[in-house]
Amino acid sequence: STVVYIADDGTETTIQGRPGDSIMETAVRNGVKGIVGECGGSLSCATCHVFVEPETFALVGGPSGPLEDDMLDGTAVDREATSRLSCQIKLQEGVEYRVRTPKAQI
Ligand code: FES
Repeated sequence: STVVYIADDGTETTIQGRPGDSIMETAVRNGVKGIVGECGGSLSCATCHVFVEPETFALVGGPSGPLEDDMLDGTAVDREATSRLSCQIKLQEGVEYRVRTPKAQI
């Protein structure tokens, strides 16, 4: 799977990810700026916020549940309609994901 991270200034970084890893883990492991992932993926920090691009949003959908939805109300940059916490999006084989990272995570 491939993840395209689109920075706040429009710069795109394309990373080959491993199926089963999250979009957050893939970013942190590859030094992609714009995602912090402070809590390691346990849904308690909201520093892995991303704006999911429309085609990818059609695949992954909205928040995984009420906890992610609540956490999205506490992000550093306000949530948008396609906001997700990227630690909750696991990569699937053969899929390309496109996400925008916010200007700040803290
Ligand atoms: Fe902390 Fe996603 S890494 S909520």
